Amino acid sequence: MRVLLTGHQGYLGTVMAPVLAGAGHEVRGLDSGLFADCVLGPRPADPPTHAVDLRDVPPELLAGFDAVVHLAALSNDPLGSLAPELTYDINHHASVRLARVARDAGVRRFLYASTCSVYGASGGDDLVGEDAPLRPVTPYAESKVRVEDDVAALADDDFTPVFMRNATAFGFSPRLRADIVLNNLVGHAFLAGEVRVLSDGTPWRPLVHAQDIAAAFAQALAAPREAVHNQAFNIGTEENNVTVAEIAAQVVEAVPGSVLRITGETGADPRSYRVDFSRVRAALPGFTARWTVKDGANELVRAYRTYSLSRHDFDRMFTRLARLSDRRAVGSLDETLRP
Ligand SMILES: NC(=O)c1ccc[n+]([C@@H]2O[C@H](COP(=O)([O-])OP(=O)(O)OC[C@H]3O[C@@H](n4cnc5c(N)ncnc54)[C@H](O)[C@@H]3O)[C@@H](O)[C@H]2O)c1
Repeated sequence: MRVLLTGHQGYLGTVMAPVLAGAGHEVRGLDSGLFADCVLGPRPADPPTHAVDLRDVPPELLAGFDAVVHLAALSNDPLGSLAPELTYDINHHASVRLARVARDAGVRRFLYASTCSVYGASGGDDLVGEDAPLRPVTPYAESKVRVEDDVAALADDDFTPVFMRNATAFGFSPRLRADIVLNNLVGHAFLAGEVRVLSDGTPWRPLVHAQDIAAAFAQALAAPREAVHNQAFNIGTEENNVTVAEIAAQVVEAVPGSVLRITGETGADPRSYRVDFSRVRAALPGFTARWTVKDGANELVRAYRTYSLSRHDFDRMFTRLARLSDRRAVGSLDETLRP
């Protein structure tokens, strides 16, 4: 298939592009390059790129594609809370517009990178499946719920949206992110010898490796229409339903000599959910999430060591909010986050 991969210069996109190409697809990227230079280790080879802002995509750009894999977004809770209106413009309105112009151009499949944070304040220890009530607690998660609702309404005989509700990602990508929980805790342990948990450690967080997310998307592209049409899928594995305290304990093991401190200074975190992943296993029989949290922690330590991760890069280059603030401050991004 000819596949347009948006957000291909991000953390997940940089891992996914070669996986999709390896599955035989002809991949083109679309990205405004917010983090294109945020690379740890050798610079990856990107697929041919449309350097375009999602909000400005000309409809004719979609001509000739069989599928769109839509990752581009302001991609975390702190970013969403900093600029809620930009989060809704980019994540919600521009995404729905992209789906509409894709459908009008004859694109048949539209994989959307949603998130398990749509379950938000689900609380409790029960597993939440895709039909559970959605209780987003941040503008970021709310933007994802709105896209799911609006794009589902576009589904028809020729246009198949699929909503991939990813667990929180972890693991090495050449375009690293330091602001997701495992990558973050491993970084602090590696750089400062301390694993510091600011919450009380009790919230549940389902985790999934970036490579496993890429594998799930590749399977969802290839799946028969009736297996995936207009459905939501949780992407991950029950084995990686872990509490923040359990994640921290794995990190301490992976970084010898590091110590664990649960400060509790931010109080209870309302974002807590344990997730049921049985639907994706039934729909995509070739898919299993293979990476454990422990293997991911060890992989990250190796990468941080091999590429000599520095404190400055960890805090400024690989932390989404800091990177965007720095780029705005020097004028390489305007107030609307356009280059
Ligand atoms: N990483 C996770 O833990 C996780 C979990 C669940 C869902 N997701 C979703 O997966 C997708 C990818 O996440 P990621 O971790 O790779 O994020 P990321 O921030 O690393 O990458 C996002 C990419 O989108 C691009 N982008 C942002 N705004 C744009 C715009 N207006 N126009 C064009 N390009 C734009 C950025 O330049 C960047 O390359 C996002 O939609 C995110 O919400 C991520």
